[in-house]
Amino acid sequence: MKICCIGAGYVGGPTMAMIAHKCKDHTVTVVDINQARIDAWNSSELPVFEPGLDEIVRANRGKNLFFSTDVDTAIREAEMIFLSVNTPTKTYGVGAGRAADLRYIEKCARKIAEVADDDKIVVEKSTLPVRTAESVKRILESNSNGRKFQILSNPEFLAEGTAMEDLEAPDRVLIGGDQTPDGLVAIKKLVDVYATWVRPENILTTNLWSSELSKLTANAFLAQRISSINAISALCEETGANVDEVAHAIGTDSRIGPKFLKASVGFGGSCFQKDILNLVYLCEHFGLPDVAAYWNGVIEMNDYQKHRFGRRVISSMFNTVSDKKIAVLGFAFKKDTNDTRESAAIYVCGDLLEEQAQLAIYDPKVTEKQIRYDLAVAEDNPCVSICSDAYEATKDAHAILILTEWDEFKALDFKQIYDSMQLPAFLFDGRNLLDLNALREIGFEASGIGRG
Ligand code: UDX
Ligand code: UDX
Repeated sequence: MKICCIGAGYVGGPTMAMIAHKCKDHTVTVVDINQARIDAWNSSELPVFEPGLDEIVRANRGKNLFFSTDVDTAIREAEMIFLSVNTPTKTYGVGAGRAADLRYIEKCARKIAEVADDDKIVVEKSTLPVRTAESVKRILESNSNGRKFQILSNPEFLAEGTAMEDLEAPDRVLIGGDQTPDGLVAIKKLVDVYATWVRPENILTTNLWSSELSKLTANAFLAQRISSINAISALCEETGANVDEVAHAIGTDSRIGPKFLKASVGFGGSCFQKDILNLVYLCEHFGLPDVAAYWNGVIEMNDYQKHRFGRRVISSMFNTVSDKKIAVLGFAFKKDTNDTRESAAIYVCGDLLEEQAQLAIYDPKVTEKQIRYDLAVAEDNPCVSICSDAYEATKDAHAILILTEWDEFKALDFKQIYDSMQLPAFLFDGRNLLDLNALREIGFEASGIGRG
């Protein structure tokens, strides 16, 4: 079968690379309107950093995995078309700040209607509001000219940084589709693709709307756990409890489970906030304001956590960070990715820049250009310097902020760092990554999240 995917981003690229890798009988073409992105996919410097991705792309590119900007040809030739374009939060008009902006999805549907000359299975990979498939279907059917289109929902559950592992051994694959004879045939075709390497009992099939809603609900539940433990972290700081101990204690209850209970400076990433805002908007749209308010609380708690961290830094440092050099270690929204979308670091740095701090930022994978773009600071802005390692960033600094849990930060020589800093030397661990007692022994004024 010929498969095409529109959108060569963090989701489309790795997912299609894995399908090509596992299904040698299928030809997979990933297309994107962004020429630079496609060029990067075709080069040795991929646009997405994911452990294990390089090897898989290198092994399959040019064989049954292709990256191209020729969207029309790829659509025309494919039997199955994945939509993996971005669906950002709307910034304008009705639903601004909450609803999903579906213009790219709609454009894709219109493009398929325009260029397809035979039947197609269209698979929604992007996270979408419930009943988006209906709009896609209507656009396709109104322009069908005798062609038949089947729409499936196949939400992605991969997490960045572990995308290849998640794709290789998913907890489950979810496929939603019409429960009609043609719909069931289309579902079966997609099931067969995944069944090449995923156990049948891990491939769940549902109706379209359950599948779409399951994705939003999964992300809302995951984010809700983080906001819950972060809320408790504030109470721990007041009471002398240790949030990591509390998380461990509750996580051993098999009904709660240990995952996603790590207190942090706040969750980031392209999905959690966007999807919850979307869920909130949907609830309001369907006349359920109480349900909307409940889920909105998860976002409010996350905002509180991000700003609370900055406030604690400032109050600990004698209520002023003005003109003080502050080393920021980590800028990505989590370790093992170069993605900074909605990273808590953006908000923390923003708050400190407002207080006129001098930031020296180091991240192992995020480029200077990206950091400057996220913080809206030009290269000649004297308040922000981007460093090439942690030692340069921390030299002469008054404080260190750990904002991403990169493994390499655990291996730093903190004695050497301490000796190069201004005193008192503060360290704020926004990821509870380091051993605070060992740092205090060196002389640091060290604090973490929820460790009173
Ligand atoms: C995106 C969505 O953000 C997420 O909700 C969804 O679950 C999966 O797709 P991601 O892959 O991380 O996630 O987005 P991004 O890295 O921005 O990639 C989207 C790509 O689509 C971009 O490269 C963009 O150029 C491309 N695109 C967008 C098109 O090719 N055509 C369009 O019309 C619009
Ligand atoms: C998430 C979902 O996990 C994934 O299933 C979905 O497909 C896309 O959205 P992602 O955003 O890539 O994936 O990463 P994830 O590991 O979920 O982390 C999101 C944010 O939560 C990160 O900023 C992370 O640092 C933070 N986090 C995660 C915590 O603060 N504490 C935790 O216990 C777990």
